[in-house]
Amino acid sequence: METAVRTLVDETPDEYLELEEEDLVERIRARKREYGKRMVVLGHNYQRHAVYSLADFHGDSYGLARVATEQKDAEFIVFCGVRFMAATARVLAQPHQTVIHPSHLAGCPMADMASIHQVEKSWKELSEVLDVRRVIPMTYMNSDASLKAFCGENGGIVCTSSNAGGAFEWAFARGDKILFFPDEHLGRNTANSRGIPKEEHLLWDYRKPLGGAAPERVERAKVLLWKGFCHVHQWFTPEHVIEIREKYPDAKVVVHPECTEETVAASDAAGSTGFIEKYVRNAEPGSVIAVGTEIQMVSRLAFQHQDRTVLPLSRSLCPNMYKVNLGNLAYSVDHPGEVNVVTLPQDIIDKARIALKRMLEVN
Ligand code: 13P
Ligand code: SF4
Repeated sequence: METAVRTLVDETPDEYLELEEEDLVERIRARKREYGKRMVVLGHNYQRHAVYSLADFHGDSYGLARVATEQKDAEFIVFCGVRFMAATARVLAQPHQTVIHPSHLAGCPMADMASIHQVEKSWKELSEVLDVRRVIPMTYMNSDASLKAFCGENGGIVCTSSNAGGAFEWAFARGDKILFFPDEHLGRNTANSRGIPKEEHLLWDYRKPLGGAAPERVERAKVLLWKGFCHVHQWFTPEHVIEIREKYPDAKVVVHPECTEETVAASDAAGSTGFIEKYVRNAEPGSVIAVGTEIQMVSRLAFQHQDRTVLPLSRSLCPNMYKVNLGNLAYSVDHPGEVNVVTLPQDIIDKARIALKRMLEVN
């Protein structure tokens, strides 16, 4: 497991929760000044504005993983995002660096849809019907570190939504099937974008023996898609796209590839949060862009680009990203190395690093 689950409540002392927002901001800024280069704060694109604006680096999960590897002067890397992102920073950081995640409660329900036991069970079932040396395990970044370790150990790779296409290419140069977990939709959208025919996609229902498929069907498939999803993105539908276009006939629609293939097909473009940010930045002043991703990010883009109309395709909040707040961030930076420290078993770090390094080599 990535971080030890201590309690089911935020352990931030009440004194932090009672402070006014301005006081918390000032306290965090003061700590950052005090630590200087020894402390670096990373903020994912979905972080609420107050937290996002205090980060030294912003970006998508691929970009922030890369940033984490480059912080040679930092003693403390504070990761404002969800648990799998902070755990990835722990894997990629130097051993003497301390990685801090302000809320151990900020998990990812999609990442929790694939456990190491389920993946190992599926792998064993596959090995009974085919030669698993031909199967490349690929985990989406949104997964427990133990799954990344599994990929490292079994000739596989980690991908994010910004390099999934390249990771597919990497995999097909080494095998003839991909077992992709835990997001069905990113896997399917990537397979579609690479022209892999539908009859070679197989939805792998991990709760059923052999994914719920006949051995011949497994043999024919090129991409086995784990039946997991992100509730924040599965919310967006082609009907939302139709409604926006009825209201704004010239609107461009950009969505995250965790949306269903139908929603992606109805939209103009799909890509990682970094891609979406660039798409909006490069849009013409005066244009209308509807964005199908987490609402905190859409609101920030609308605020940053007031010379164009940036709209949510529909409102969808990631409650887990929202669990990082000024209170638990202030508590974390007030006690660096003492609270909210991310730890992982060394063997998981070593094996997960293999798969993450492969990810960083693929664009
Ligand atoms: P990005 O890699 O695009 O930042 O996405 C992370 C995520 O959790 C999307 O739901
Ligand atoms: Fe997980 Fe979805 Fe939240 Fe991303 S938006 S962190 S995939 S629940």
